[in-house]
Amino acid sequence: MMQELVIKSYGDLGFHKTIGELIKEHSENKEDIREVAKRLVDLTRVHDILDLGCGYGWFEEAMPSGFRSIVGIDCLDANEQGFLSVARKIATHSAFKRVLLPAPIDMEADTFDLIISAYSLYFFPDVLPEVHRLLRPTGVFLIITHSASMMEEGEEFFDFSNVRQVINNFSAENGEHILRQHFELVTATDYINSLVFVKEEKGDLAKYIDFKREFISKDVSPVVVKAKMIHELETRGMMKFNKNDRIFVARK
Ligand SMILES: C[S@@+](CC[C@H](N)C(=O)[O-])C[C@H]1O[C@@H](n2cnc3c(N)ncnc32)[C@H](O)[C@@H]1O
Repeated sequence: MMQELVIKSYGDLGFHKTIGELIKEHSENKEDIREVAKRLVDLTRVHDILDLGCGYGWFEEAMPSGFRSIVGIDCLDANEQGFLSVARKIATHSAFKRVLLPAPIDMEADTFDLIISAYSLYFFPDVLPEVHRLLRPTGVFLIITHSASMMEEGEEFFDFSNVRQVINNFSAENGEHILRQHFELVTATDYINSLVFVKEEKGDLAKYIDFKREFISKDVSPVVVKAKMIHELETRGMMKFNKNDRIFVARK
């Protein structure tokens, strides 16, 4: 199943950290998207945080300390230690729950001031009623998501309809409409970015495609994609990939 393939690729902590650095290095937008996202929330009013599809705690790495509690939910056990080691630095109480979302979340209503979902809501958009239940009346739901056109450059050569289908579950383009069915107030902030690789950076492009491999393998063999993209990089001298993301803030 597509979802399982994608999920499998999110458990390798060391590789993800390397990719994080690589993405930063090749980004045209040098501002960290987490800094943009944090400015949209009044963190002085946040005490209890829930992170859905938390991974190894990438978002928490950019958070200040002093929170009362942080709970991370992810379907992969492999993310538990990474997440907890980051969460412990910034909150008095931290917990990790392995749950395959969407599913009922075993916690009381109105528990969190901030619920985060970074690059994950397209895997489980049906979790929204649970988010609404768990958010305090004054709470904020913060989402970072990809644009449906993120595979655009690759689509010149390949048909990525399976990836597109996952992203279309909740994308920069349709996210506001989906959120408005559950939340009163919704705002959207664009984060415009491209990843740029020049001829000498073939190795980095190969690693980036490796990072996306589980995502694309249902559509095309990642080996074929890699060979084609590296050939194009050699021919054109430079390749640019759309990495426009959007940050949504939703309130009850
Ligand atoms: C692209 S990663 C993002 C991780 C983290 N939020 C970040 O921004 O680095 C997506 C995360 O969602 C998790 N995930 C995917 N499908 C899930 C599901 N159905 N239920 C719970 N977690 C899921 C994956 O294991 C992975 O950690």
